[in-house]
Amino acid sequence: MPLGSTRTALVTGANRGIGLGIATALSQAGLRVLLAARDRERGEAAAAALRAAGGDVRVIALDVANTASIDACCDALAAEGVQSSHVDVLVNNAAIMEAQGGCALAEDLGLLRRTLETNTIGAVHLMQRLAPPMRERGYGRIVNVSSDMGSLEHMLAGDLSYRVSKAALNAATRVFADELRGTGVLVNCLNPGWVRTRMGGAGATRSLAEGADTAVWLAMLPDGDTTTGGFFQSRKPLAW
Ligand SMILES: NC(=O)c1ccc[n+]([C@@H]2O[C@H](COP(=O)([O-])OP(=O)(O)OC[C@H]3O[C@@H](n4cnc5c(N)ncnc54)[C@H](OP(=O)(O)O)[C@@H]3O)[C@@H](O)[C@H]2O)c1
Repeated sequence: MPLGSTRTALVTGANRGIGLGIATALSQAGLRVLLAARDRERGEAAAAALRAAGGDVRVIALDVANTASIDACCDALAAEGVQSSHVDVLVNNAAIMEAQGGCALAEDLGLLRRTLETNTIGAVHLMQRLAPPMRERGYGRIVNVSSDMGSLEHMLAGDLSYRVSKAALNAATRVFADELRGTGVLVNCLNPGWVRTRMGGAGATRSLAEGADTAVWLAMLPDGDTTTGGFFQSRKPLAW
């Protein structure tokens, strides 16, 4: 990368929780951050603190469960001069986990569809839009925030929709990584651990910064690094 140029990172679901933790750390590390939130006002509120700390942060409206919203977001970035080709880092963080603890035998299929739309298809769609220009430029970092609940090795009863959505996200990570191997675009996924967010609950063991750490590490893998197609926790490989 030429001296003085700044990498740009787009983080989904960045208005709160781990996504905000990731956006904060990337901003502090000097990246330009596109803070994506489905509610612009919530995004602006989150961005204010990062800007006050000197961050170059821009809020973009993005509902990852909505195909038209993803296309509109990518089109708007291009129209406003922030070419989608200038998104160097994509962090697919936004996710839902509704009806925690539900039994697979009684799972609402509507919940399964909603969860796949948000947690898996939205991430795949964004990779489809943003990875080709990364490949053209020979640099990209795609980070998919997954979960150990998506690990087939550790698959247990309950939470079918969430587990299936994250296992599918892990599979997508490997497919995209293999298709992009050798192009400078690295695609990895991670489990952030049990983090104190609305999803993780107040009793979780990790802070936002701790939950963000592995994602930030993957987002900032240095030039020439070949780490791709991996599943990590605390910067170490995790069983698929
Ligand atoms: N917390 C944990 O212990 C834990 C453990 C393992 C994995 N994870 C993973 O870590 C990631 C972040 O989780 P979290 O704990 O920070 O969750 P969270 O506190 O529930 O925050 C979720 C974020 O995603 C956004 N979001 C949800 N649906 C969206 C949509 N359709 N379009 C755009 N944004 C949407 C939310 O926006 P709104 O504010 O608009 O709702 C919010 O910003 C998720 O991928 C999750 O699966 C978390």
